[in-house]
Amino acid sequence: MGMSIFGSRKKRILVNDVHSHLIPGVDDGAKTLDESISILKDLEGLGFKQVVTTPHIYRDLYPNDESDLKVKYQELSERIKELKLNLELKLAAEYFIDDHFLSRIKNNVELLSFGDRYVLIETSFSTLPLIWDEVIFELKSSGYKPVLAHPERYQYIMDDRSFLERLKMNNIKLQVTAVSLIGAYGVGQQKIARYLVKKKWVDFIGTDLHNRSQIEGLNKTHPNRFYQKALALPLLNYQL
Ligand SMILES: [Fe+2]
Repeated sequence: MGMSIFGSRKKRILVNDVHSHLIPGVDDGAKTLDESISILKDLEGLGFKQVVTTPHIYRDLYPNDESDLKVKYQELSERIKELKLNLELKLAAEYFIDDHFLSRIKNNVELLSFGDRYVLIETSFSTLPLIWDEVIFELKSSGYKPVLAHPERYQYIMDDRSFLERLKMNNIKLQVTAVSLIGAYGVGQQKIARYLVKKKWVDFIGTDLHNRSQIEGLNKTHPNRFYQKALALPLLNYQL
């Protein structure tokens, strides 16, 4: 048997992604339909079969709403079909926690979720929002399962790892970003990502892809020991 493109045929690959910014022109991700398609072709080449794309919904920076995103998602999906890509694209969102988001959950707005009503959320990188507990309560009350995007990247978690324990106790799912494990966002972020793998607290792995230049980092991550260890965990990616 020969070696695979990832170095050894025994290496695992991720086939279900749950975090990416591939709807063109709506946030800091892909800018055009062509760019989205190029990235999706790259992902197909890496072995991905299902990609959940999660554009930002963030009132102050990316004021998207669910219905506009659905229209753009349809356009992209049709292009994928025309080109016969061997990959399924699904739409969810990455919700920034702010008062606007809180009021929308309270008003029973149907959120963009993936799998078994998982909702991807993010906070400011510096501080935990004061409304955190309330948002989690409201999400759960509405039947959603909160997933914190890239917990390894928040300063308040790097400063106090015990918060991760609280998250696990509250059954908040944790989505680690693949390239964090090779230090793409910094050393502190890498340490937390590796700590989560060691603790077996990784629920989802995501790529958080925004553009084509990040594909190289994803390639580099594949043979990484911590990444391979993460993929051997009973990830919820495998249940999608
Ligand atoms: Fe993201």
